[in-house]
Amino acid sequence: MSIVCKSGSEIDKMRRSGRIVRQVLEAAREAVAPGVSTMDLERVAERTIRDLGAKPAFKGYYDYPCVLCTSVNDEIVHGIPSARRMLKAGDIVSIDCGVVLNGYYGDSAITVPVGDTITPELQKLLEVTRESLFHGIEAARVGNTVGDVGAAVQQLVEANGFSVVREFVGHGIGTKLHEDPQIPNYGTPGHGPKLRDGMVLAIEPMVNIGGPGTRVLDDKWTAVTEDGSYSAHFEHCIAVTRDGPVILTE
Ligand code: MF3
Ligand code: CO
Repeated sequence: MSIVCKSGSEIDKMRRSGRIVRQVLEAAREAVAPGVSTMDLERVAERTIRDLGAKPAFKGYYDYPCVLCTSVNDEIVHGIPSARRMLKAGDIVSIDCGVVLNGYYGDSAITVPVGDTITPELQKLLEVTRESLFHGIEAARVGNTVGDVGAAVQQLVEANGFSVVREFVGHGIGTKLHEDPQIPNYGTPGHGPKLRDGMVLAIEPMVNIGGPGTRVLDDKWTAVTEDGSYSAHFEHCIAVTRDGPVILTE
């Protein structure tokens, strides 16, 4: 395992990629509505990425066919956009996007309600998952460890009665989409690699209402909950700096 630390000017480049990802996700979020397909979101995202002068990071990565992952309801991550998958009121959809600009990657995800009303339980799922991401970010400090980040995410999720997915994890990011180290959303405080100035991490909690189990559909990509319970996903890229964590994807 080798963890690459980034210079200040590299982190500036990653902020530019991160800002583009944010704009893509906001454009996709605005397009979310009952009767819209996940392929409609893909088209909005693809156009926005090109208009902003970046390249999609996911399309072609291990032969993944799209610029977005769109994961609806019990789908956890890596849902493939489809013209047949219509969003309906009360659904939740995770929108995950990566781009590359000037050789540096950005990667971020949000989970969005469809229509004006989702159940209070789903509302809580979205809030807790987003809050768990910020707990993890708070723990991403020089001298802490990867285990401290995972433990912070896990603690908040489990205190709220939800469960953390184990089979998919966050990651280092830089001149590649996936770099060392892996960033699990669970862990033991003080364990794992030490965080150093200049490390850039994609932290991405995936949280299920029911049990933590997962399975992958026959399309070989879409990860769903084993028990059919709904799942949410939020992701930011952050730089570990002497002044604390800096979010690059906002
Ligand atoms: N955000 C996900 C990740 O960091 C998406 C990668 S999916 C792939 O792993 F399509 F790019 F493979
Ligand atoms: Co990621």
